Amino acid sequence: MSVPVIVLVGPMGVGKSTVGELLAERLGVGYRDTDADVVAAEGRTIAEIFVDDGEPAFRALEKEAVRTALAEHGGVLALGGGAVLDDGTRALLAGLRVVYLSMGVEEAVRRTGLNVARPLLAVNPRKQWRELMEARRHLYEEVATVVVATDGRTPEEVTQVALDAL
Ligand code: S3P
Repeated sequence: MSVPVIVLVGPMGVGKSTVGELLAERLGVGYRDTDADVVAAEGRTIAEIFVDDGEPAFRALEKEAVRTALAEHGGVLALGGGAVLDDGTRALLAGLRVVYLSMGVEEAVRRTGLNVARPLLAVNPRKQWRELMEARRHLYEEVATVVVATDGRTPEEVTQVALDAL
């Protein structure tokens, strides 16, 4: 019997990987991450894909990674922070248990700082975070079956709140 999938969505830096691994451990299921799947399939970093081919090309690769992961994997699956931007990717999540890990703008700035390894936030992080949250919040909410606020909570606490809500 395959384990029903639990999908994690939310902004970069919110802790999808950390919480995803903790959730998988607590549930005794596998953990998978579509960013890692894209990097493995392409043999390039995400930053390289953005620079070489542009964001639309990355979103198409990401959608295929989500489709493949959902077909192959029962367990916890974390999506990249921008995966919900793609209509087709959102459609793949219909009917699934989707946990949205949310955080406020100030928390996002504090957690990610000036991390230039994240290509979308290289300059003026506070302004970019505000715009990014405004553009994406409703999309996270659209796909989510459970919302867990992470501000002021440790990954262990977030995991427990998610487990209680699932
Ligand atoms: C992105 C988030 C990243 C990664 C890419 C784009 C985004 O994933 O997919 O850099 O658009 O928010 P994480 O949320 O795992 O950092």
